[in-house]
Amino acid sequence: MHVSVFDTTLRDGEQTPNVSFPINYKIQIAKQLDKLGVDVIEAGFPAASKGEFEVVKTISKLGLNAKICGLARIVKQDIDAALDSEADMIHIFISTSKIQIEHTIKKSYDEIVEMSVEAVEYIKDHGRLCMFSAMDATRTELEFLKRIYKAVEEARVDIINVPDTVGVATPFKFYELIKELREHLKVPIDVHCHNDFGLAVANTYAGVMAGANEVQVTVNGIGERAGNASLAEVVMVLHSLEGIKTNIRTEYLVETSKLVERFSGIKIPPNTPIVGENAFSHESGIHAHGVIKEASTFEPGVITPEMVGHRRRIVIGKHAGRYQIKKMLEDAGYAVDDESLTKIVEKIKELGDKGKRVTDLDLFTIAEIVLGELRKEERAILVDEVTVLTGNKITPTAVVNAKVLDEKKVTSAIGVGPVDAALKAVANLVGEKVKITEFKMDAITGGSDALAEVYVTVEDENKNSFTARAAGPDIVMASIDAVINAVNYLMFKKRKS
Ligand code: KIV
Ligand code: ZN
Repeated sequence: MHVSVFDTTLRDGEQTPNVSFPINYKIQIAKQLDKLGVDVIEAGFPAASKGEFEVVKTISKLGLNAKICGLARIVKQDIDAALDSEADMIHIFISTSKIQIEHTIKKSYDEIVEMSVEAVEYIKDHGRLCMFSAMDATRTELEFLKRIYKAVEEARVDIINVPDTVGVATPFKFYELIKELREHLKVPIDVHCHNDFGLAVANTYAGVMAGANEVQVTVNGIGERAGNASLAEVVMVLHSLEGIKTNIRTEYLVETSKLVERFSGIKIPPNTPIVGENAFSHESGIHAHGVIKEASTFEPGVITPEMVGHRRRIVIGKHAGRYQIKKMLEDAGYAVDDESLTKIVEKIKELGDKGKRVTDLDLFTIAEIVLGELRKEERAILVDEVTVLTGNKITPTAVVNAKVLDEKKVTSAIGVGPVDAALKAVANLVGEKVKITEFKMDAITGGSDALAEVYVTVEDENKNSFTARAAGPDIVMASIDAVINAVNYLMFKKRKS
């Protein structure tokens, strides 16, 4: 069985409150979606504004493999704008539920059917693909829903979409609805679910099991109100749990999620399935022990981090076990006897009990103290001087003087703010080989003299990652210290192995 993927990140996803993608972001997202392998990209609503029109037109001309779709109401002016935008497919929609008809479009059922049929015929006469959505389908009287879909099918529509516009469907009811429509219609069926009750993915899945041929999704599930069904979740449920194929190259799911997270400014929680930071992270000793021996002991097994472009992480905390800590230390080149290990485990649990997140740096510092080998001289980078300039009339600029493997180096960089500039200057010390994959800053005391605590994760070219922390009253210096600490240990580990 094969299901097509219709991505609406650039249209419904952009309807997320406070999200608006500039055209260059939209182009980059469209290219990424194409690399990911989506079948259709809904690029925008050409009649909505000049900018939207330009976006759809520009994306239509990129020569992507995916079909490009433009949204339109069933009015000539909208459809003409979508046709002029050169989109391959025009997606038309009209409200069909009593509540929406009564309060918004105020037309009779007969008029709605007639206008819809005319719109489909007009698009088909122009040789374009046409998708028809009965908006608020899940609150529409079933007899009317069947009537309007049949009428547009007879008018040669290419695909019909069943939107759960306000997210009130439940999996069993949605399954029954799609099954009924599947039996009633010959055209392919698409499902479009909103997440008001957290059921968008479950409903989309139910729709597919009932015979839907295509799923409408957004990256990271962004969209109106609580959002739409998440592309990564829907695709992996189909691939991994049901063996249903799509054209998605799943190894790009995390990369795509991160791009949309950055461009939309909508941060995904760490416990987000598939793409979240913790999706393949293990903290408890029992789980970590199992996973180190055989990953599928405490992971689903039918999905691996590599399949989705993620990585597995063993995180240390108060639930950590001896086996996991010993393994991490041995991997980093430390030889630990049983007695030292007991002391190290105790100290880690103490930190965890104080509510502290235990970083890799904490683990290795504790190990070094216990093993009696705190090595300042082992540090690859020793920062000598940092200068940062910022203000309302200058571009934040940082200059860093440091010794890198005994060689004096001076690097500089500009950034969007002083921390960004400083971290870029630090990154220049070690070249392109390490990147900061996580950066989190908390104020741990109140007031303008608050202590800033910075957690970072840095990753080298072999995807080895290292977490570290630093604290201080100066946010720039705390950030630099945290990153330098992490880089020092990554380089130390590399020299030891
Ligand atoms: O949720 C919805 O009903 C929509 C339509 C435009 C398909 O986004
Ligand atoms: Zn929608």
